[in-house]
Amino acid sequence: MESIKDITNEILKCKRCKLHLTKTNYVPGDGNENARIVFVGEAPGREEDKQGKPFVGSAGKLLNETLLKFGIRRERVFITNVLKCRPPNNRDPLNEEIEACIPYLYRQIMAIKPDVIVCLGRHSSKQVLGFFGEKFRGITSDRGKFFEVMLNGKKIVIMPTYHPAAILYKPQLKDVFEDDIKKVAEIIGKLEKKRTLFDFF
Ligand code: URA
Repeated sequence: MESIKDITNEILKCKRCKLHLTKTNYVPGDGNENARIVFVGEAPGREEDKQGKPFVGSAGKLLNETLLKFGIRRERVFITNVLKCRPPNNRDPLNEEIEACIPYLYRQIMAIKPDVIVCLGRHSSKQVLGFFGEKFRGITSDRGKFFEVMLNGKKIVIMPTYHPAAILYKPQLKDVFEDDIKKVAEIIGKLEKKRTLFDFF
């Protein structure tokens, strides 16, 4: 089975779509390769493109604060995006860019084999649920739902929620977003009790 490092090295040389010509840095993903939770966003923004790391701008700050509020340390999770390069001016990803890039995300998920995948926003929800043969009906109807799917013989949960940038834009959604992250913290806590003390997430 390939490692996250192998996949990262491949992403750092990628020329599968035109975004490699306009990006500053590739943003392959960041975090723990044994993570119990994987967060998937849409695409790097300006700050992520500058630093080569996902969710380090204002949406990332809100994500970090929310994770901490429910006892989820960022070093314990893996965070990545559907696209590994920034679309110019943060425009929506094009279908051809998603098609070119998405195999990296699927390979990252298979390498990590998390217990939970949290999809941040509609692009990520559509792609991740689609990969597991589930239909995404829209963020308003599907956010906060747990989709149980099989990953190489292991039962895992996928939960779509709002993108943290949407919370910055519409603060009235913050409570719902926090409830979703809290549910994830709770199921991870439940799973954890079944494990040994040394198998901590
Ligand atoms: N928005 C995303 O979808 N991903 C990032 O990494 C940053 C902002």
